[in-house]
Amino acid sequence: MTAPAPALPADLEAGLRRLRLGAMRRLAPELLVPAKTQRWSPEEFLRTLVEAEITSRDESNARGRLKAAAFPVTKRLEGFDVAASSVKRASFDYLASLEWVRAAENLCVVGPAGTGKSHLLVALGHEAVEAGFKVRYFTAADLVESLYRGYADNSVGKMIEQLVHADLVVIDEIGFAPLDDTGAQLFFRVVAAAYERRSLAVASHWPFEEWGRFLPEHTTAVSLLDRLLHHATTIATSGESFRMRDARARGGARPSSR
Ligand SMILES: Nc1ncnc2c1ncn2[C@@H]1O[C@H](COP(=O)(O)OP(=O)(O)OP(=O)(O)O)[C@@H](O)[C@H]1O
Ligand SMILES: [Mg+2]
Repeated sequence: MTAPAPALPADLEAGLRRLRLGAMRRLAPELLVPAKTQRWSPEEFLRTLVEAEITSRDESNARGRLKAAAFPVTKRLEGFDVAASSVKRASFDYLASLEWVRAAENLCVVGPAGTGKSHLLVALGHEAVEAGFKVRYFTAADLVESLYRGYADNSVGKMIEQLVHADLVVIDEIGFAPLDDTGAQLFFRVVAAAYERRSLAVASHWPFEEWGRFLPEHTTAVSLLDRLLHHATTIATSGESFRMRDARARGGARPSSR
């Protein structure tokens, strides 16, 4: 068994703690021994410590971004069976490259229940988090509900500005519930605020020409779609629900609730 590395001198330990250089503080004691015995160059010693700190910071920032994204489930691109879906490989690869996020373009996914819309959005969101982007996930109902709260206490403008600080805002389940005039206008304000500045990734089981079903004002629906679709990749998912396939594969058991 090797002896534990001698502790750092107290002033160094305190200094690194104060500067919040946690990875350096943890690594330095054990690194000092080989650095001395193997006569590392000062640059090499410093570089090893700095690299450890950067790696640890990056990981912790990614964990923070993932938490802030508030995805409802963990879904990854590796788990998305492209061949079994109606999404074309070229579209999938383009989306996975995240070029559209860099270019502040949108993604609109429409298609029936269980065809992978949420899976795709969450998995792309996760990918974006790992690539260093700030992401926020909402269902349309949750988003409108929190905007409504902001509307009530006059903070909705600030709320929307804050929202579009994210590089990618995911809005899932659009059209599950109809919106009233105020709800539709608040939703429009989010789309308008993000327009050409940030990426929106949205999903709905309603084809675009049917968005009038849940957006009460015709003009709001038209102006909203106009902005949403201007710089956008649109994907239409189709086919049988994966939930149904799952249920059948499990021998006619009830569909999973996911
Ligand atoms: N291409 C796919 N590869 C692997 N799993 C998939 C694929 N498409 C869907 N699934 C899985 O099927 C289930 C349903 O998919 P998902 O929740 O993405 O459907 P949805 O289109 O969002 O449905 P809804 O409109 O009801 O919200 C999930 O568990 C998802 O991971
Ligand atoms: Mg869904």
